[in-house]
Formats: sequence, C-alpha cells, structure tokens
Amino acid sequence: IMNKNITVAIDGPAGAGKSTVAKKMAEMLSFEYIDTGAMYRALTLKILKLGLDPMSVEDVVNTMNSTSIDFKDNHIYLDNIQVDKEIRENIISQNVSYIAKIKEVREGMVRIQQELAKTKSVIMDGRDITTVVLPNADFKFFITASVEERANRRYKELIEKGENNISYEDIKREIENRDKIDSTREIAPLTQSRDSYKIDTTNKTIDECIEEMISMINRR
Ligand code: DC
Repeated sequence: IMNKNITVAIDGPAGAGKSTVAKKMAEMLSFEYIDTGAMYRALTLKILKLGLDPMSVEDVVNTMNSTSIDFKDNHIYLDNIQVDKEIRENIISQNVSYIAKIKEVREGMVRIQQELAKTKSVIMDGRDITTVVLPNADFKFFITASVEERANRRYKELIEKGENNISYEDIKREIENRDKIDSTREIAPLTQSRDSYKIDTTNKTIDECIEEMISMINRR
C-alpha cells in the first residue's frame, strides 16, 4: 500500500501569525510541525553566546559545522540542550536575519528541512519553504498581515514575557528592518510564490485563518 506523506508549506513575514496557525493546524491534522525560523534562531543564539559576530561569514559557518540542531516532541535542541525560550528573546530577533542570509547556512538548513519532510507528513513554516525547501508541497500558503498589526502583536508578546526595555516604535522599526533583509537578500528571499494561497491575518482570528486553510485543503 502506498502511504504518501502530505506536506503543507507556509511562508510569510515576521509576526504574521504563521507559527500559531501552523502549530494548531498540525495538532488538528496530526502532522508534525516544523518551525524553520527556530533553526536559524538556534544558530544565532550559539553565535551570540560565543561572543562571535553574526556578520562574520567565516565564524558563523565554522560554528554551524560543529553545531547540532534538532527537534524532539515540538521542542528545539541546540547541542542537545532545549532552547525554546532563549531563541524567542528580542536580541535573537535583532540578529537572526544576518545569519539567515549566509549561503552556506541556508544550504545546511535546507538540507536538514528536506530530510525531515521525507519520512512524515509535515507542516513547515518559514520564508523559503514554498519556493526552495518544498517546491512540490501539496499545499502552499502565504500568511501575512500589515506591518502595524505585526508590530503590535510582537510588542504585546514581548511585554507579556516581561521584556520592558522596548517601545512599540522600536519593534515596528525592527520588523521593517527584518522584512527588508529577508526579502531583498540574494539567496532565497521572502516572496509570495505564484502557487501559494494568500491569507491576510490583519483582521482575522487564528480560528478564522485555520478554517480558511482547512476549507481550501478540503476543496482539493
Ligand atoms: O519566523 P522567525 O521570525 O522565527 O524567523 C527568524 C528569521 O529567520 C527571519 O528573520 C528570517 C529567517 N528565516 C529564513 O530566512 N528562512 C526560513 N525558512 C525561516 C526563517
């Protein structure tokens, strides 16, 4: 009996709600959720912990080659230590785009991501999933929202976590900066691929987004 793995690919800018939607959908469908941004964040965490410069290609690539990053039960492990919390700190968000634009880093990450999708049904989110990592995904979505809404969500999230040295304006500027680096970089920039179904989450609840996605899947 042929038992085909289903793949759902999701791209979109920072703070659009991709991971919230993807996580919940994965649970509903009993698929594995793979947060590719978390992998770039984990490497960034290691670079900063070692006191290295995220813009030094040589240091970043050397570090990556002696680093292990994996997922187990929806947790991310950096050199076998769970780092779910640390990778969400704002200092990581501020630096991750510099690491994510390095060619060798992307090649290494993409290889791991493609392996993960070979053995099971997955929902994967990131910036280059519909275009580079899983160009043949069964379902493709582009999830976005206005920059004000995204900044607002991130700001609230950080305040709730107790990061109080921040302002809404700073967060908005940081998101704009990240959008710019992510979508203008040379390798695998963030774009909406032609075959992706676009969902604008600005004025929608999580459940409304999921409903829209599931009904789109069911239509096929
Ligand atoms: O989705 P996120 O905010 O956790 O992603 C963190 C950074 O990683 C983001 O600024 C761009 C980068 N990224 C990427 O380049 N490619 C991916 N597939 C996922 C994330």
